[in-house]
Amino acid sequence: MTTVTQAKFVELDLEALATAPGRVVVFLSGDGPLDKGARRVNRLTRGALERVRDSEGFAKMKPGDAVELPWPSGMAAEAVQVVRLDRRASVLDARKAGGVIGKAGAGKPVLVVANTIRHGEELALGAMLRAYRFNPHRTGEAGEVKEGSLTLAVNKPEEASAKADTLAALAEGVFMTRDLVNEPSNVLTTTEFSRRLKEMEAIGLDVTVMDEPELEALGMRALLGVGQGSESPSKVVVMEWKGGEEGARPFALIGKGVVFDTGGISLKPAGGMEDMTMDMGGAGTVSGAMKALALRKAKANVVGIVGLVENMPDGRAQRPGDIVASMKGDTIEVINTDAEGRLVLCDIMWYAQEKFDPTGMIDLATLTGAIIIGLGNENTGVFSNDDTLCKSFLKAAEVEGEGAWRMPLGAAYDKLLKSDKADMKNVGGRTAGSITAAQFLQRFVKEGTPWIHLDIAGTATAASGTPLAPKGATGWGVLALNRLIADLQEG
Ligand code: BES
Ligand code: MN
Ligand code: ZN
Repeated sequence: MTTVTQAKFVELDLEALATAPGRVVVFLSGDGPLDKGARRVNRLTRGALERVRDSEGFAKMKPGDAVELPWPSGMAAEAVQVVRLDRRASVLDARKAGGVIGKAGAGKPVLVVANTIRHGEELALGAMLRAYRFNPHRTGEAGEVKEGSLTLAVNKPEEASAKADTLAALAEGVFMTRDLVNEPSNVLTTTEFSRRLKEMEAIGLDVTVMDEPELEALGMRALLGVGQGSESPSKVVVMEWKGGEEGARPFALIGKGVVFDTGGISLKPAGGMEDMTMDMGGAGTVSGAMKALALRKAKANVVGIVGLVENMPDGRAQRPGDIVASMKGDTIEVINTDAEGRLVLCDIMWYAQEKFDPTGMIDLATLTGAIIIGLGNENTGVFSNDDTLCKSFLKAAEVEGEGAWRMPLGAAYDKLLKSDKADMKNVGGRTAGSITAAQFLQRFVKEGTPWIHLDIAGTATAASGTPLAPKGATGWGVLALNRLIADLQEG
């Protein structure tokens, strides 16, 4: 597990600035005088901060941009990082500035002079998130885990600390998602995945792992068909957080956990197939969100359910043309074994509704390449049968700075799933690929269950670093889901 470097909050000690090791961070706002801490650093460096503030370069900097003064004379630090940020910076600007600080300061001691900045704890969250590194598979120096530290000098340390505890729980959740998504598929098998989830009983979740015989008995033939060509046994894991009113119906989070997607007999081309280690991103996000809820002891009832399978070509693998019966009872003609995610989701969505009668249900899945064509890597595709729930989610995502864009559903799209031999086929054809995938899922949503489908194929990973994540797994969705649950149940 990649550990979060937890922020410490202290009162500003001007005398400590000269001798602080590692990195010292100060803020300059667009207007107004230097703050106390910056004045001291300015004096120690014989006016360097004033020269930065009066430079042409500074005038062009946006909130959160930074310049670096390496090995400043008069200080023990190896660098002073000067970040442009207004005193009244928004939460998202504070996080972004934190990201800049965390990126440069990962693995080092960092002292941030933040006493004039609003949302110091949010800045700390940004720094924690951006300092993430995934290196358990490197040897030598590159594989060493360098213990950094993050200290913020603020006006009310106790207050900031209390808020930061909750935010650190969110960072732990995001890190869990990223670790799961970054892990290669020979390590993160279905068995290993379920083992890591079972470990979360230590933080108060009830975790149940269901194995193939049980899934067979439940009638989950659609899900089992996907995994039948793999040496790794298919599993469904149920994580329950009961922090709300006793006996009250939970909200359900459902995740696609294809630990590797070769496409099966409808085999994918070789180029880029290694990216399919991330095809469990939906399950990873659900797991990270459940961890965050548990760690911050949310006053909410939430159940997370993930379907863990591997889609392999093999003598026993499912064939194109096979017809399988879902747990719901509807039959599915498997035209393309590479459209496997929906086969996994339809059974666990049905199970979630039968077993838990949830007040609402959100599924997350790296479901279609088409959503990347449509929305790129900036926005998750959002599909819903319920305007109220959908608006609440879009709002939560916006507040957390996580891109989300609503897409349409409709009867004309649904028709494309008509099969000659079974109740439906698992693909719609070339057009509207992300929408027909969502239509397939909607057939497994009961009348009266508010539901959202999130297609995270484009947002679960990033090809280059983002403001709050290095390249690789992003953890998209953990923050938005956490906020939605808070808005729905803790408001
Ligand atoms: N896991 C893929 C979708 C995907 C593609 C995720 C690229 C991340 C990046 C999914 O199982 C899949 O293969 N979908 C097919 C569906 C098609 C066969 C209808 C696709 O998108 O091509
Ligand atoms: Mn596939
Ligand atoms: Zn897939």
